[in-house]
Amino acid sequence: MPNTMSSIEFEHVSKRFTLHHEKRNSLQERMVNVLHPRGEGETFWALRDVSFEVPTGETLGLIGHNGSGKSTTLKLITRILEPTSGAVRVRGRVSALLELGSGFHPDLTGRDNIFLNGSLLGFGRADMQRRIDDIVDFAELGPFIDTPVKHYSSGMYMRLGFAIATAVDPDILITDEVLAVGDEAFQRKCMERIYQFRQEGRTILFVSHSLELVRNLCTSAVWLDHGELKAAGSTTATLDAYMRQTNTQEQERHQREHARREADAQPAEPAPAAGSANRWGSREIEIVGVQLLDARGHEPAVFQTGDKLTLRMHYEAHQPVTDPVFGIALHHASGFHINGPNTRFGGLALGRLQGKGFVDYTIDELPLLAGNYVFTVAVYDASLTHPFDHHHMLYPFVVQTNAIAERWGSFYIQARWSYSGT
Ligand SMILES: Nc1ncnc2c1ncn2[C@@H]1O[C@H](COP(=O)(O)OP(=O)(O)OP(=O)(O)O)[C@@H](O)[C@H]1O
Ligand SMILES: [Mg+2]
Repeated sequence: MPNTMSSIEFEHVSKRFTLHHEKRNSLQERMVNVLHPRGEGETFWALRDVSFEVPTGETLGLIGHNGSGKSTTLKLITRILEPTSGAVRVRGRVSALLELGSGFHPDLTGRDNIFLNGSLLGFGRADMQRRIDDIVDFAELGPFIDTPVKHYSSGMYMRLGFAIATAVDPDILITDEVLAVGDEAFQRKCMERIYQFRQEGRTILFVSHSLELVRNLCTSAVWLDHGELKAAGSTTATLDAYMRQTNTQEQERHQREHARREADAQPAEPAPAAGSANRWGSREIEIVGVQLLDARGHEPAVFQTGDKLTLRMHYEAHQPVTDPVFGIALHHASGFHINGPNTRFGGLALGRLQGKGFVDYTIDELPLLAGNYVFTVAVYDASLTHPFDHHHMLYPFVVQTNAIAERWGSFYIQARWSYSGT
C-alpha cells in the first residue's frame, strides 16, 4: 500500500487571524491589553509560508512550542480552517481527533455521539451499528456509554474520541496532543493501535510535546517555530535540530545568570539566609559558599557528559571542630536520589578544623546524561547525627550531551555491544 504519492501537501501555506478584541473594561483586562498590545482588529500570522509533504504511509510528528501553529496546521488539513494563501492538498479520507470534546454534543450520550460522529464522517446508521461494539469495547466506558458526555472526565472524552476516530477506517489519522490525558494503560492501547495503523500503511500525523513518543513512533517530523517551518525530514534530524535550539536557549539562560552573579562579584553561590526552610544546623562550622568547577577551575554555565566536575564547599569554622564530616547528595530534578557520598565513606579524615578553607568532591568523568540535577551539601559532626550546616537541594546544575550519541535516561554507563549470528 505505501507508495510515493503524497497524502498531504502544504505549498507556501500562510494563515492569518484577525484578532477581534472585545471591549476591555475591567482593570485586569486593561492590564492584559498593556502586557500584550496587539491593538484592535490587528492581524496575526499563525503560519507563514509553510511547505512540506507527507508521503502516504508516513507517520509524521508535528513538534514546536506552545502557539507555534501545530493545531492550526491540523485544522487546515481537516478543512476546519482555510489557508489565507498557498494550497493545502489532502488525498484520502481524514479522521481527526482534535481538541478534547470537539465534535461531541454535550447533551447526547456516548452512544448517540458515536452515530452523530459517524454521520459527520459520512457513515450511515447501519455502518456505525456494525462498528459500535468495537468502539464501545475499545473505549472501555462500560455503562457510561449511555450517559450524556457532558458528565465525562477528560480521559473518558479521549477514550471515546480515539475509539471513534480509529474505528472508521480512515486513510489519514490525525491526533492533537490528546493521548496525554489518558492513563498509562490506555495510552499503551492507543500506541498499539497507532502502530497497527502504521503497519497497515495508513498515514498518521500527530502533534505531541513528548519528544520520546515522536522518536519512537514517527518516521518523520516537522518542527514549527512561531508559525514558520524550522525543519522537516527524518525524525532524528528534526528532533536533534529542535533539541540543539532548546539546549542553546537553556545554555544562554544559564550564561546570563552566571554573568549576573559575576557582575555582583560573588566568588561562589552564596549560602541561603539562616532560618530558610532549605538550610538548617547549629553552625559551629558552616558552609559559606559552593562552587561547581570544571577542569580549568571555571564555573561553566553547563556541564557536558564526561566532563570533570569539582564541587567545592567553602567552610568557615567559628570555633575548633573535631572530625567533622562533609557530605553531599546528588538528585535528578525528578527527585530521584542518585548518590550520597561523604568524607567518611571516602576515607578523608579532616581532624581539627578552625577558620576558613574548602573541601572538594571531584568527579573525573561526569557519568550523567543530559538533564537537570541538583546537589545538596552538608557538614555533620563525627557521629553523623548532628548537623552543623545542611543546605538541602540548593545547587542545581544542567548537563548536556553533545559529544556522545546516547539520548535516553540519565546515566552514561560505559558498555560494549557485540553480535553473534549465522
Ligand atoms: N481562531 C483564532 N483566532 C486568533 N488567533 C488564533 C486562532 N487560532 C489560533 N490562533 C493563534 O495562532 C497561534 C498558533 O496557534 P496554534 O493553536 O496553532 O498553536 P499550537 O502550536 O497548537 O500550540 P499548543 O502547543 O499550545 O497547542 C497562537 O498564537 C494562537 O493564539
Ligand atoms: Mg495546539
